[in-house]
Parts: sequence; structure tokens; C-alpha cells
Amino acid sequence: MTKLWGGRFQKETDHLVEDFHSSISFDQRLYQYDIKGSIAHARMLGRCGIITEEEAGAIVRGLEEVLAEIKAGQVEFSVEAEDIHMNVEQLLTAKIGDLGKKLHTARSRNDQVALDIRMYLKDEIDQVSGLLRQLQEALLDLAERHLGALMPGYTHLQRAQPVTLAHHLLAYCQMFGRDEGRLADCRRRADVMPLGAGALAGTTFPLDRQYVAEQLGFAAITQNSLDAVSDRDFAVEFTAAASLVMVHLSRFCEEIILWASAEFAFIELDDAFSTGSSMMPQKKNPDVAELIRGKSGRVFGNLQALLTMLKGLPLAYNKDMQEDKEALFDAVDTVKKCLLVFRPMLETMRVKEDNMQAAASKGFTNATDLADYLVRRGLPFREAHEVAGKLVFHCLQQKITLDQLSLDDYSKFSTLVEEGVYDAISLKRCVDARRVPGGPALEAVREAIAEARQRLAASK
Ligand code: ARG
Repeated sequence: MTKLWGGRFQKETDHLVEDFHSSISFDQRLYQYDIKGSIAHARMLGRCGIITEEEAGAIVRGLEEVLAEIKAGQVEFSVEAEDIHMNVEQLLTAKIGDLGKKLHTARSRNDQVALDIRMYLKDEIDQVSGLLRQLQEALLDLAERHLGALMPGYTHLQRAQPVTLAHHLLAYCQMFGRDEGRLADCRRRADVMPLGAGALAGTTFPLDRQYVAEQLGFAAITQNSLDAVSDRDFAVEFTAAASLVMVHLSRFCEEIILWASAEFAFIELDDAFSTGSSMMPQKKNPDVAELIRGKSGRVFGNLQALLTMLKGLPLAYNKDMQEDKEALFDAVDTVKKCLLVFRPMLETMRVKEDNMQAAASKGFTNATDLADYLVRRGLPFREAHEVAGKLVFHCLQQKITLDQLSLDDYSKFSTLVEEGVYDAISLKRCVDARRVPGGPALEAVREAIAEARQRLAASK
């Protein structure tokens, strides 16, 4: 087959090279964007008198037919045509004849591919953002169902202070809210139209770049032709933002895996979101959560691949940049798949509130509150800490909890303790006394939920 760029060549491309440098196997997913971009370009060429309006009309109609045929699965792409851009042009020329050869006037695949990826990424960002919003809404609903569910809060995975499940869930809501913000930020920088940059140095034809941008729904046009064809920051930014989504999902999954163990027994995953063992009949495994945790590595790897691909490239376009697509596509696919399955897994899990509360009541999670009680009775905090620590040690030896100590026992450690101590160290009190904004008290959590709901409504 003759190459679209075959003019200066005397020899056929080696078949090994043909296969090696072709990207059609993966960049075909850009076909809709490529064709929409070409339609806008052709219309602009007609409008600016670079081709006639009739020619532009015929090219547009041809492209629309090619689009419909690809959509209907009637097209077999050719490896020899290298990539989606040249495949589409070839299909167009096969359909409308030599006129198809005018489409590429004042354009290069370098600005074309930059355009396609930006269009693709904007759409995908909208989808990922939608999934993130649904997840946050699910978290808020779940938090409302478990507003007063006491559970131990941990540091170093050691029981630390009591919180509620609602407060714990809201922590993740914050993370996914920031993820949404990062994606919106990335989207703003992807929303810039590069066509007109040509191969690297613009074009001698008087293009109306603004018109192309408007047709394709871009907010602005790129300001430097060299940058326009060599910029892949938006791919890096997306993959970095996606990496953080995966970090957040993975941390949450780690907790779900722990919580589902017999040792914690805080939750039970729904049968529909767990799997069995081929050997051990009793097993019910949190495979979905484990797989999400495992898949985080793919996305981090993609980020690393993109950064490494870019860091040594001189301006402007270099073929290395073809490697951007598989990394970006895989990051998009992975983060979407994980978000999609994570939410229903979360929504269907059964929460064992009694076990959470029982765990919170062990482990002396109210020891800080005992110290705070002594502080309110006049003891400097450092001394109160010491007294409470001794009381904890005493309880450990007696195998009892702080609220099981009698006032008589307390008096051996401090004369400041009175009847009010039992209320001060009751778990519910420990939580409800933490009324600071952002704290776990019922009221603070209710406010946090209302605030998150408002934020979600505003970001729609
Ligand atoms: N398939 C190429 C890519 O994905 C398109 C741009 C090719 N440009 C070129 N001058 N070879 O990057």
C-alpha cells in the first residue's frame, strides 16, 4: 500500500517497523474525536476560502459517513495506515475520491493528535468526576445512616480515641472532593485548542483558529505552536490526579479488608461483592477491595511512564510521545473501573455497629478524656497525662476498663476525681464533647454533611 507520506521514499517500510510504529491498535479509540476535529477543520478551511465551501461540504459529509461506518463496526482499520488519523483520511479518500486529499491542508498529525487527546480527556474527566460525585453522595448517605455509630479511631493502627463511623466516612468524602477539584483544574488546562500549530511552526494559510475552538467547544486556543504540539502536561496532570484517586480508594480498601476480617469484624461484605476460595470452603474473600488496592500500582506506573517519556524530549514533537496514549488510556480505564465497582461494594456492606462500639470501649480510647477531665479540675496537662497513664496501667493489670474503676480506686491516684468522671469518660461523651468544626461530635458531623451536600450541588 502506498504511504500517505511515501513521496521521498524509495523502499517499502520493513514489516517489523510497520508493526512496531503503528498505533492504530490502541489509538482507534480516538476515532470520534479525530473525525469531529476534522469536520471542524474542514468547515474552517471552507469558511476561510482555503478550499471552496462545496469542497468543505463534501468532505464533511464524507467524514460523517466514515464516522457512522466506524460506529456500526463496518470498518477494518489498517496497520499500514499507522494511526487513527491516517486511517480516517484513507477511508475518506476511498469514499469521496481525490477531494479527501485536501483535508490535511494546513494541518499536521502533530497538532491533530494533540487535539484528539485533549477532546478525549475532557470527556473522560467529566465521567470520572461524575463517578467521584456519586461516590461522595453514597458516602454522605452512609454517614447519615451511621451518625451515632461509635468506633475506635486509630493511630499506628492502635486504638486511639473514639470517633463515629460517620466521621470516618466523611474523611474519605473530603479526599474524593479534593480529587474532583484536581480533575476540574486539570480540565481547565486541557480545554485549550491546539490546531493551527501544524507540525511545529504553524502554517502559512490564514486559519481561523478561534472558529475551530468554538465549534469544538474549547475555551481558548494555544498560544505557542511549539508548545502546542509538545505539551502533554494535561496527560500527566490527569494521571497524577487519578493516582491520588487510587491512593484514596486503596487506603479505604485496606480498611475494608481489615474490617471484614474476623479479628476486626466491623463489617461483612455482601456476597455479590465477595468471592470464595477454590480450596477452602469456608472462605469469603474481599477480592474486589484487594484488586482495587492492587490496581493502584498500574496507575502510578502510568504516571511514571508519562513523566519519563517526556523528561528528555527536545522540542517539539517526537515519536516517543505516541507512548502517551496507552498509559493515559490505562489510567482512565483503571480509575473508572475501580470507582464503578467500589461504590456498590460500599453501599451493600453490612455494618456491625455493635462490634465497632465494643472495640471502641476496649483499648482505653477514653484515656485522653480522663486526662482532660483532670485538666479541667486544675491539673497541668503533663501531670494529668501521667496520672491517666498510671490508671491505664493499673486497669491493664486488673483486666478492667477505666469506667469500671471505683471512686475509691481513683482516689488512690488522684484526689481530684469525683463522680462526674464517669460521664466525662463515657464514649458517647468523648465523641460529643469534640465539637470543634471538623470534629466527630454529632452536631459537627451533621454540619459537615450539610456542607458537603452544598459543595456537591454547587459543583454540578
Ligand atoms: N500516532 C502519532 C502519535 O500518537 C501521531 C502523530 C504522529 N506524527 C508524526 N509526525 N509521526 O503521536
